[in-house]
Amino acid sequence: MDEHGVNTLGDGAKSACRSGRTLDREEMDAALDLARAILPRDPVTRGHSLRVMDYALALARRVKLPRVVFPHLVFGSLLHDCGKGGVSDHILQKPGPLTPAQMRLMGLHSERGHAITRCVGPLETASLFIRQHHERWDGQGYPDGLREEEIHICSRIITLVDVFDALTTHRPYRKQMPVQAALGVMRSGRGSRFDPELTDTFLAMIREKMVPVSRGRTTLFRPWFTPSLVAGDASASLCHALVRSLAPCPVQLTVVGSGEEVFNQMEAGPVEMILLGESLRDMTGAECLWLSREFAPRAVRLMLCPFNRLEALVAHREQAGIYRFVVMPWQERAFRELVEEALVWRQITAAVTGA
Ligand SMILES: [Fe+2]
Repeated sequence: MDEHGVNTLGDGAKSACRSGRTLDREEMDAALDLARAILPRDPVTRGHSLRVMDYALALARRVKLPRVVFPHLVFGSLLHDCGKGGVSDHILQKPGPLTPAQMRLMGLHSERGHAITRCVGPLETASLFIRQHHERWDGQGYPDGLREEEIHICSRIITLVDVFDALTTHRPYRKQMPVQAALGVMRSGRGSRFDPELTDTFLAMIREKMVPVSRGRTTLFRPWFTPSLVAGDASASLCHALVRSLAPCPVQLTVVGSGEEVFNQMEAGPVEMILLGESLRDMTGAECLWLSREFAPRAVRLMLCPFNRLEALVAHREQAGIYRFVVMPWQERAFRELVEEALVWRQITAAVTGA
C-alpha cells in the first residue's frame, strides 16, 4: 500500500480488470433493463443491494480501479444475491440459525446468480463477480475454492462490503452491530476471509468517515441521502393531492405552481426528480420538463396525465425526456412505488454512467 493507505493494484488484479470491457450506451440500457427485472423487490434486500453498490464504488475509486470496470462492478454488486430468488422466504427470513441442509441450499445462490446473468451479454463480466462473491482470500470459500488473486478484485470488493453492510444493518436473525464492533469483526477476517489490503483500505475509509455508514434504517435510498423532488401543477387541488400522496415517501418535496418556481429550485440545488401536471401557470408541464433537461439533465422526469390525454401527451415523451406518465386518478400506493422506483433507478443509472 502507498503512504495514504491506498491499495495499488498488483499484476494479477490489473489483468483481472482487463477482462472487463466497456459497455456502450445500448448495452448499458439493456443491462439496466435486465437488472431492473432481476433486482429483488423487497425493500430490505433492495436497500442492501444499493448500499453494497455504493460501498463497492467508493472502495473501487479509492484503490483506483480503472473506470472501465465500474459499470460491471455496479451490476455485480447490485445483483450479487440475485440467485436467492429461488430460495423460500421461510429460509431467507428465518430468525434463527439455518440447518445444514438450508445452509447448502443458501450456498447455491452464487452459482445460481451466475447462471441467471452469464448468458446476458452486458452482464457477463458482472456474472463472474456474482459467482465469486463468497470466495475467500484463504481459498476456503465457495463455489470454486479460489484463493487470493485468482478471485477478481471486484469480487473481493463485493465480498468485503457485503459483509460490512450485513453486520451494520438489522437482519431477521440478529440485530445490527455498532460500527466499531463491525470494524473489529472485519479486521479479524483480514487475510483469511478478506483481501488484506482491501480490508485495510476500506476500514480506513470507514474510520475516517469517507464513507457514510447506514445506521440500520430500512430504506430504498442511501441512508444519508434524501432525494429532492419538485412536483406541481397550476391547479391547487392537484398540488394538495400530490402532497397527500407523496408525504410518506422519503424525499424532500417542494410543491410548485409555475415553471419559474421549478427553475428557481434547480438553481438552488440539485433536483433528483421533477413531477409535473399538464399545465403550469406560465407554461405547459411538457415545456417545463423539456427546458429542465438543460439545467438538470440527470433528474428523473415524470408527468401526470389524465387518461384521455395520454395519447396526445405521449408525443412529448422523447423531447421532454419523460421517464414515466402517471395516469390520473392515481392509486396512492402504486404512485408512491413508481416514484420510489424511479428514484432508485436514477441512483443506479448515475452509478453506472459515473454521473
Ligand atoms: Fe451472497
